[in-house]
Amino acid sequence: MKIISGSSNLEFAYNLSRLLHIENIFVNTQQFEDGELRVQIVDDLNTPTVCIVQSISNPANDHLIELLLITDAVRRCGVKNIIAAIPYFGYARQDRKTYDYGPISASIIAKMIELSGINQVITIDLHSPQIEGFFHIPLHHFNTIDIFTSIIQSYSDVIIVSPDAGGILRASKISNKLNVDLAIVNKTRKSHNYSTADFISGYVEGKHCFIIDDIIDTGGTICNAADLLIRNGAKSVTAFVTHAILSAKSKELINNSKIDQIYITNTIKHQNLSSKFTILPIEEQFSKYCKQKIIL
Ligand code: R5P
Repeated sequence: MKIISGSSNLEFAYNLSRLLHIENIFVNTQQFEDGELRVQIVDDLNTPTVCIVQSISNPANDHLIELLLITDAVRRCGVKNIIAAIPYFGYARQDRKTYDYGPISASIIAKMIELSGINQVITIDLHSPQIEGFFHIPLHHFNTIDIFTSIIQSYSDVIIVSPDAGGILRASKISNKLNVDLAIVNKTRKSHNYSTADFISGYVEGKHCFIIDDIIDTGGTICNAADLLIRNGAKSVTAFVTHAILSAKSKELINNSKIDQIYITNTIKHQNLSSKFTILPIEEQFSKYCKQKIIL
């Protein structure tokens, strides 16, 4: 088996190959003047199994197309078993029709991945588990619950907070594991990039609140939730988020928010974040999961 790194997160792919003791092969990705991508695998691929590591992160469309083009190149080298390790699965939020005449984007992305020749997908903290149903190939889904729980368990007076109804399952797994209460923020999404935190179900006064979410994009969801929690008497607010997209002015918003500390993982590469951010490298746990799940 060999690992091929797409350009989204070279460090993650390199660390994965080191931990799995598998050779890491680079791809030369270039761009035509009109934005089209051109990829070329720079080494020999005389192997039955290849694992392509690529997050569908910003620029999501380029990274997705790069993944599909690399897969096609690998398939044309005669590789039969092609695994996509997708640390951040972009488009997963669009897993249903929330407005008239819209697509189910995650479903069409799943079709594209399958049609390209990928035989197995292994990903991290998928937005909703039912996305697996869009695939007809094995999809394995590593979650960050144990990683987050191991940090939160050293605190007392804790309450776990889901910042919206969609995150209840994820947050409740942590509150159940720690045997602490769960609060839920009622979020209204007014447009695709704008939401409000309206009220809280649960009693947060005097508590250290730990918000659990899968994605930070604009930062609106967790910053609004933090504001509401503090207004309701919370002692402190810490956030744990797996995929830090951190678009536009989100870093500034978080730095100026009521959030004391935010823990993110390295499924998406970031540098030079403020001291509010702690990046949790997760290649080690993910590599162990890959060893268990990948079918050779
Ligand atoms: C939504 O369902 C997700 O779980 C996140 O809460 C959302 O994507 C965060 O987006 P933003 O940071 O733009 O509020």
